[in-house]
Amino acid sequence: MNVGIDAIRFYSSNYFIDLHTLAGVRGVDPDKYTVGIGQEKMAIPPPDEDIVTMGAAAAKPLLDREGKDNIELLLFATESGIDQSKAAGIFVHGLLGLPARCRTLELKEACYSGTAALQLACAAVARNPKTRALVIASDVARYELASPGEPTQGCGAVAMLVTANPRILALDSETGLFTSDVMDFWRPNYRDQALVDGKYSTRIYLQALQECWKQYREQSGRSFGDIARFCYHLPFTRIAEKAHERLAKDAGIALTDEHLAQQAGGSLGYNKIVGNSYAASLYVGLNCLLDNEPEDLSGKRIGMFSYGSGCVAEYFSGVVQPGYRERLFSDEHRALLNNRTELTYRQYEDIYNLAFPTDGGTHMFSRYRTGPYRLAGVKEHKRQYEAAS
Ligand code: HMG
Repeated sequence: MNVGIDAIRFYSSNYFIDLHTLAGVRGVDPDKYTVGIGQEKMAIPPPDEDIVTMGAAAAKPLLDREGKDNIELLLFATESGIDQSKAAGIFVHGLLGLPARCRTLELKEACYSGTAALQLACAAVARNPKTRALVIASDVARYELASPGEPTQGCGAVAMLVTANPRILALDSETGLFTSDVMDFWRPNYRDQALVDGKYSTRIYLQALQECWKQYREQSGRSFGDIARFCYHLPFTRIAEKAHERLAKDAGIALTDEHLAQQAGGSLGYNKIVGNSYAASLYVGLNCLLDNEPEDLSGKRIGMFSYGSGCVAEYFSGVVQPGYRERLFSDEHRALLNNRTELTYRQYEDIYNLAFPTDGGTHMFSRYRTGPYRLAGVKEHKRQYEAAS
């Protein structure tokens, strides 16, 4: 019996800043951002949007179409947690009206947690194939203003329905795994911006990839040529090209620009204009590939590399299922990305500097453009969510 992704939906903020604007203010050659790191725009969440509203916005259209019956597991993957105790997924569970008979929890291991959630959901569904699991990965990437990480911020969420006999991607059981105690990127509980040793983090990312890939090949008996399309965790898109060049070199393959674009380029478009969405990022890339690849990928194998700083990494794969295109939300994704509002630098900085109220009083937030839900405010330290219209 196959297990995997039966439906997948992406959501991001309705606001962005163009990296040409940021480059102008920072006195940086825009090519450094657009060519050097491969990013063009970054999504900025307004004050009434957070990981819960984004996650619920990603999941709602899935559930409206697929129903809520038999969803006995909701895994919420994030590293932008809003509470040290309560799982963010419980807010989403309430907003979406999911059945009370449901295990709901939050998972954390930097950007890897989305993949941890997906693999755990597959295991749970394999144990009881009559049930379904909802996996939500949702994050806001935030670095200090004017730091090297600043142009790699972003935000977004992906919701995936995991079932037996999935109609989009059946996951293979073989994986390559890697854990190592490194301090390449971290965020102590008292900070709301990540700390990062940027260049070190990219080196570790590539080392982890090679280790996972080696194991994956040994476990599966597959090689570079058995993978039709490659998706990589995308903190910024240029890293995927470097990662792919590394795998090709290890396989003794001379990679042309055309091959690079065909094999690994299809997943980059959304991330270039959304930015890093941490736990969701790999799956934003997968969504982009499935939505926009001109060739029918039915029966083809997609390889995926997940990396979470700290670090844990995994190489795994799945086979695209016939008819998958009818299950996608491609038009909705394109409409979302084409209808966003551009922020000026001043607006971006004002939003960035808004401090979340911590005094226990009642604070209601201004209404911005959001998805179907918004963070209305906070009262007695309790977040208040509501339908947006
Ligand atoms: P930087 O200081 O901007 O680096 O930081 P740089 O000066 O080396 O420039 C970057 C690239 O732009 C270089 O290319 C330059 O040559 C090029 P490379 O040598 O790398 O091939 N460049 C130009 N290209 C064209 N025209 C120009 C020009 N000028 C320079 N005029 C860094 C870059 C990525 C380190 C920084 O943005 C950063 O710290 N980002 C955050 C950390 C990060 O994303 N790390 C990635 C791996 S870790 C990871 O993926 C996990 C993560 O998602 C978190 C999680 O797991 O939760 C981050």
